[in-house]
Amino acid sequence: MQLSISSTQLNDWSGDVLVVGLPKGKPSDTAAQLENRVPGVISALTKQDFQGKVGEQLVLHLLTNVNPQRVILIGLGDADAINLDTLRTASANGARASVGCTGRLGLHLPWDDQNPENAARVSMEASRLSLYIDQRFRKESDVRRVPTVLELIGLPNIDAAGLQSVNATCAGVELARELVAAPPNHVTPAALAKVAATLAHDYGLELNVLERADCEARGMGAFLAVSQGSDLPPKFIHLIYRPKGEVKRRLALVGKGLTFDSGGYNLKVGAAAQIDIMKLDMGGGAAVLGAMRSIAELKPAGVEVHMVVASCENMVNGSAVHPGDIVTAANGMTIEVNNTDAEGRLTLADALLYACEQKPDAVVDLATLTGACVVALGDEIAGVWSDDDGLISALNTAAEAGGESLWRMPLHQSYKKGLKSLLADMKNTGPRSGGSITAALFLKEFVSQDTAWAHIDVAGPVWSDKGQGVNPAGATGYGVRTLVNWICAQV
Ligand code: BES
Ligand code: MN
Ligand code: ZN
Repeated sequence: MQLSISSTQLNDWSGDVLVVGLPKGKPSDTAAQLENRVPGVISALTKQDFQGKVGEQLVLHLLTNVNPQRVILIGLGDADAINLDTLRTASANGARASVGCTGRLGLHLPWDDQNPENAARVSMEASRLSLYIDQRFRKESDVRRVPTVLELIGLPNIDAAGLQSVNATCAGVELARELVAAPPNHVTPAALAKVAATLAHDYGLELNVLERADCEARGMGAFLAVSQGSDLPPKFIHLIYRPKGEVKRRLALVGKGLTFDSGGYNLKVGAAAQIDIMKLDMGGGAAVLGAMRSIAELKPAGVEVHMVVASCENMVNGSAVHPGDIVTAANGMTIEVNNTDAEGRLTLADALLYACEQKPDAVVDLATLTGACVVALGDEIAGVWSDDDGLISALNTAAEAGGESLWRMPLHQSYKKGLKSLLADMKNTGPRSGGSITAALFLKEFVSQDTAWAHIDVAGPVWSDKGQGVNPAGATGYGVRTLVNWICAQV
């Protein structure tokens, strides 16, 4: 989608579909301009009892041979309470209501009430992301039409430089969405490795893919145990962005990359276990790949980024890991697999060990790790665990700027006793209660003490059943914006 900004006023604008945000209360300046542009609008507002409340939306279909063909009014609520989130949601809802129209979409919001650069960035991001429709798996006759040009109307003169990141960031989010949404017979570990190879080729990144034998040689017994019940070979993917010039900060992003999680012999049984959507179990891996896509295009200076995704499937066959097996991670730690469905942490154990070998200043992992985190925070908020207050605060700032919700959870040491095993150094699951916390404590065992580390459980927000805000129903691409903002704010 082509993005542009313009200082054209409503009166003079021409295009195919027009979205206008109106605050609550008396007809405003904007409404008067709109009446000028589309005579009769004000009376339509009155007739339909449109008051401008938050969430209110009125779609007016005009004659197909006039311009615009459709006018969409979005309520913004109290004028004094309008903030960037209001603009984000209004842009998203407005853009989504334009589906079915092609051509030029104009968006008019109260830019001046905010820092207009920020307002423009947020609004463009939200419009593009909410207009995204995944039509890869439909026959041509079912494909829907969407606007191809987005124009922000009535913007004061702003420095457009800051807007250049919008397309790169959104492309990363969309890549993550496409990877999560694609079914597990399409997105396999080999397919993820191929995506990494394409990024490496297109942007000059460095790529190492460790095959099963390489992982064996490195003693990655925890990762390989998960993969051994699948007919598909595992792929341990390491993608590197190196900046031009001096490296001031080195970061590692680790993503869980289960292209399907059947649960293994602890099979996911019953509708609540959601085996039917377990293609989403590479959502963390998709987010870090998406972030690398954006970073590769944005080319931030001074920061080197290592992405690690230990990708495989969790399946059942005659060689699958048994409940009760004891496996050994690359650092020699033995793990009793008392539940084969807690497979993500096994793959992440070896991935985190490998990431720490790259000597990063900070490691952030993203994983669709536990249903318990979804129970705690719902499907719009990810949980974040870290002992490092500075890292938490940086991630919170990055998440907020990207419109992604994050909530700090406790790394409560005392719960570690829940992971004691009779035989091995640890078992992979503890009691049901506090399950997302013991999962985080398990991961912590595989991170070097001197490395700042945060774990983000994205099991809830990688997927949206109904769609919400900028997210269409299905895969959301959660995590990309937080990671990109965090990385770009490093130096
Ligand atoms: N991939 C699942 C977690 C998950 C659940 C993600 C629902 C998205 C939606 C993970 O591998 C898993 O199965 N976790 C278990 C852990 C349990 C066995 C301790 C869970 O949450 O039930
Ligand atoms: Mn599982
Ligand atoms: Zn899983």
